[in-house]
Amino acid sequence: MATFSRLVITFISLLAFALAFSIPHVPDKNNPSNNPSVHLLPTKDPFYTAPPGYEATSPGTILRLRVAPGNLSTVVGNCSVAYHILYRTTSTRYRPSYAVTTLYVPKTPSGKALLSYQYPYNTPDVDRSPSYDFYVAPPADLGEALGLGWLVNVPDHQGPVGVGGMGVGQGLATLDSVRATLSMGTHIGLHDDARYAMWGYSGGSIASEWAAELQAQYAPELHFSGMAIGGTPTNISSVWVETNGTPYAGMVPLGSTVVTKVYPEAYAYLVDHLKVAGPHNRTEFLRVLHMSAPEAFAFFAGQDMWDYFVDGRAVFEAPILRHLVDGTFYMGYHGVPQMPVFMYHAIHDEVALIGLAEQLRERFCRVHVDILFERNTVGDHIGELTNGAGRALAWLGTVFQGKEYVDSGCIVREVTVGF
Ligand SMILES: *[C@@H]1O[C@H](CO)[C@@H](O)[C@H](O)[C@H]1NC(C)=O
Ligand SMILES: *[C@@H]1O[C@H](CO)[C@@H](O)[C@H](O)[C@H]1NC(C)=O
Ligand SMILES: *[C@@H]1O[C@H](CO)[C@@H](O)[C@H](O)[C@H]1NC(C)=O
Ligand SMILES: *[C@@H]1O[C@H](CO)[C@@H](O)[C@H](O)[C@H]1NC(C)=O
Repeated sequence: MATFSRLVITFISLLAFALAFSIPHVPDKNNPSNNPSVHLLPTKDPFYTAPPGYEATSPGTILRLRVAPGNLSTVVGNCSVAYHILYRTTSTRYRPSYAVTTLYVPKTPSGKALLSYQYPYNTPDVDRSPSYDFYVAPPADLGEALGLGWLVNVPDHQGPVGVGGMGVGQGLATLDSVRATLSMGTHIGLHDDARYAMWGYSGGSIASEWAAELQAQYAPELHFSGMAIGGTPTNISSVWVETNGTPYAGMVPLGSTVVTKVYPEAYAYLVDHLKVAGPHNRTEFLRVLHMSAPEAFAFFAGQDMWDYFVDGRAVFEAPILRHLVDGTFYMGYHGVPQMPVFMYHAIHDEVALIGLAEQLRERFCRVHVDILFERNTVGDHIGELTNGAGRALAWLGTVFQGKEYVDSGCIVREVTVGF
């Protein structure tokens, strides 16, 4: 009897589980009850938590879906409706995890193109994720892409809490956001033969590039038409060295806290090696946990970040941190992109050195990835964000037309584009 009722209970819970995670019911934006006016901080919003049992679902499964609350679709130009999707993914430590993405539907969708746009938010603070921050400051690129009739997927690729880390987790979260979005298919006006591509600049390129490296193993059913990445930081240690003492010194606390986020021992090591007293101390350094990237740049501008550590820069040479960075960050060691790639970079990029990005290009060219690499004679890291946007959009427009329109081979060209 006991066994029988346990069986019944098991059956009922399996059924409930299957129903809960079946084909998503896409909420109607015109029904006011689907569109609450208040949007809460991610850390206060139950939407950002995974339902029990989510670990058993397959990566990319939609776990929660809602019309984005408040006026997001009004704030973002050329947008008719925006959805928040909580989906199953896999963490940097290759364990079940979850993340949120925002899917923007254009006013006049072509139905033929989906752009996965990885935004460079670079912060350990989940309350500054794009699904929340875009209510205040949506990037111009988003409105432009929607204006072209493309659906735009903007994953919180650093995860709500679970994904964490850099590189691997960001790539997997990006791939699963695309799976989740594609599974909404015709509900969002996406044709069966729609093409999809990725775009990311700087911290966004980290998520895109890792997605491209990991795709063949992790999501072999996906077929991206292309990937545009700019200002690509292939080596995070180099970024820390280059930005220390500059206006972007905040990269050191931002990057080091993000990298160690899901590795408690490494995080503890980092924190234990911060000085407790003096003007450059632990309390000041860890303020970064509640900052957006621009806030961190303003706060730490010009500072010598090594001075926060008892043993200076040597802290990053400790095996616990060096192995973490070596194993989860360097681009070009986890896989080969199965799609044409557009890389664009300012020659005078002072954050992500162009020579290192060229090394990645050479590595991929040796295994016959089709790459167009543009070296811009104008501008720096922040400059190329704007200077390169038009070129990236144009290239993405071409790959959405079809593979036959994209140059094959390994092409490097110098351009002079500045505004
Ligand atoms: C969006 O809503 C906020 C309040 O949540 C308001 O301050 C803002 O003016 C609104 N923006 C637009 C474009 O409607
Ligand atoms: C809307 O799309 C048009 C056409 O692509 C574009 O020119 C415009 O800048 C976009 N508007 C916004 C607010 O992004
Ligand atoms: C990354 O950059 C650092 C700092 O310049 C350098 O010491 C290290 O050798 C580089 N690592 C790789 C794999 O290129
Ligand atoms: C930490 O640094 C801040 C800013 O320099 C300073 O105001 C504070 O007194 C320092 N704390 C300690 C314990 O020294």
